[in-house]
Amino acid sequence: MTNKEKIEELRKKRSEAMLGGGQKSIDAQHKRGKLTARERINLLLDKGTFEEMDIFVRHQCRDFGVENTRFYTDGVITGVGKINGRSVAVFSQDFTILGGSLAEFYAKKIVKIMDMAMRVGMPVIGINDSGGARIQEGVLSLAGYADIFLRNTLASGVVPQISAVVGPCAGGAVYSPAITDFIFMVDKISHMFITGPNVIKAVTNEDVTFDELGGANTHGIKSGVSHFTCENEIDCFQKIRQLVSYLPSNNMEIPPDEEYDEEEKDLEELNDFVPDNPNKPYDMKELIAKVIDRDSFFEVHKDYAENIICGFGRLHGRSVGIVANQPLVLAGVLCLNSSIKGARFVRFCDAFNIPLLVFEDVPGFLPGTDQEWRGVIRHGAKLLYAFCEATVPRITVIVRKAYGGAYDVMNSKHIRGDVNLAWPSAEIAVMGAKGAAEIIFRKQLEAAEDKQKMLDEKIGEFNSKFLNPYIAAERGFIDDIIEPKDTRKKLITYFELIENKVDFNPRRKHGNIPL
Ligand code: HXC
Repeated sequence: MTNKEKIEELRKKRSEAMLGGGQKSIDAQHKRGKLTARERINLLLDKGTFEEMDIFVRHQCRDFGVENTRFYTDGVITGVGKINGRSVAVFSQDFTILGGSLAEFYAKKIVKIMDMAMRVGMPVIGINDSGGARIQEGVLSLAGYADIFLRNTLASGVVPQISAVVGPCAGGAVYSPAITDFIFMVDKISHMFITGPNVIKAVTNEDVTFDELGGANTHGIKSGVSHFTCENEIDCFQKIRQLVSYLPSNNMEIPPDEEYDEEEKDLEELNDFVPDNPNKPYDMKELIAKVIDRDSFFEVHKDYAENIICGFGRLHGRSVGIVANQPLVLAGVLCLNSSIKGARFVRFCDAFNIPLLVFEDVPGFLPGTDQEWRGVIRHGAKLLYAFCEATVPRITVIVRKAYGGAYDVMNSKHIRGDVNLAWPSAEIAVMGAKGAAEIIFRKQLEAAEDKQKMLDEKIGEFNSKFLNPYIAAERGFIDDIIEPKDTRKKLITYFELIENKVDFNPRRKHGNIPL
């Protein structure tokens, strides 16, 4: 063959590979309302930056007729590219080839780019759209999954791992996304479950649709498996790009700063932000939006356990992880789901050197048999543990209630909060005034002629004595009581002052977080 012919041959093979499972399969994919694996990569990465690897890989299986369908890529597109100018590793499962089913060489391709991402220190973004283990390859497919699960685990806390589930993801296959840091799902086209509706019908006689069982809304609202619910695939890949902008590329780096040259805002209105009535709710998201850089809030788990708010934001261009109680939902109590949600977010931020900012207004843990029997002790301990072990710069602002154990949990001074600020509206106590008065004055109340009058007096006494930030400030548990209007300024200043914080936990193999 001449050089010219060799180049022609290369071009021919490459264009064949670019067609995946063929035009008919591509059309069928579009008909399902889904994009192709390559279209997805184009939406995810900066234009023209994708370098594909292993395009010529093909399976070596000779069973069940699959030897006649040896497509290039073997059903997964892998490589490296850039998001906002920073390197990322990507795999995108190609449903047009054997339903994107995962097999021996397909898995080796994913493992190769994951290993590379760990050596280089870049995030891994996996785009999942697959019929699961390639049935014809049997245990080789299962082995391939296990090889990926191991990489997911070893890469955890080393490089950010992000999963987009944009098609079926069933059986044990769900555990690769589940180990990654964030899962994005798209309404209508994404499904995740261990066993599908037919098996469920046979085993438990339940009738459930694919969407009800494992659709984007189910996992975004009910189970909390998914962190982001997207309207469509364009929205999904745009959101992944946005998420990456808040993150460092690996655990040895700090997050990238963003240019910020907006004029500082006057926040006079915050001095009147908290309602005078301590039982009146307000929207903590409004406060977050006012304090951080304009339009910089990127919420995680938006529709799940809404009594706690988690998300990324920026303060003068610098990335912070925000955890805040939401008085609008269940009065902002901590419950088992919100504890798990908060704990996972705190641990992610800590692993990737993202400073933590806490806005606190919490009346305690949610009481009730439902919570107790489902393990609020064990799950609440997760959030406590996560804050206790975090070594990133940590600042808390107590906006209103800081009651009971929840005061300790929410990044208090006692568990290594670096800077603990309170607004004058802060109420730091073991519990609310009515409950407290009823317990400590029980005998006097029983003996009193006018019980209600005495109770009101005792509540008033308790309110004026304990429900303020001054007792905590007298003891240094609060570093300063600030005017709400100065919150943004103080946070920017303090985060800059403590940015070089170095703190360690004792040497050990690993802690034993109450799972
Ligand atoms: C081989 C598969 C496949 C698989 C789909 N295909 N899944 N080939 N192994 N697991 C092929 C189909 O035969 C078909 O080939 C093409 O992919 C497209 O599939 P369709 O069924 O036409 O697509 P659709 O109607 O959209 O349905 C998608 C689907 C369905 C819901 C995913 O294909 C399905 O139920 N597949 C089987 C799912 C499954 O049971 N997988 C094993 C899960 S257990 P042709 O040639 O006709 O186009 C598992 C264990 C993991 O994965 C363990 C990890 C530890």
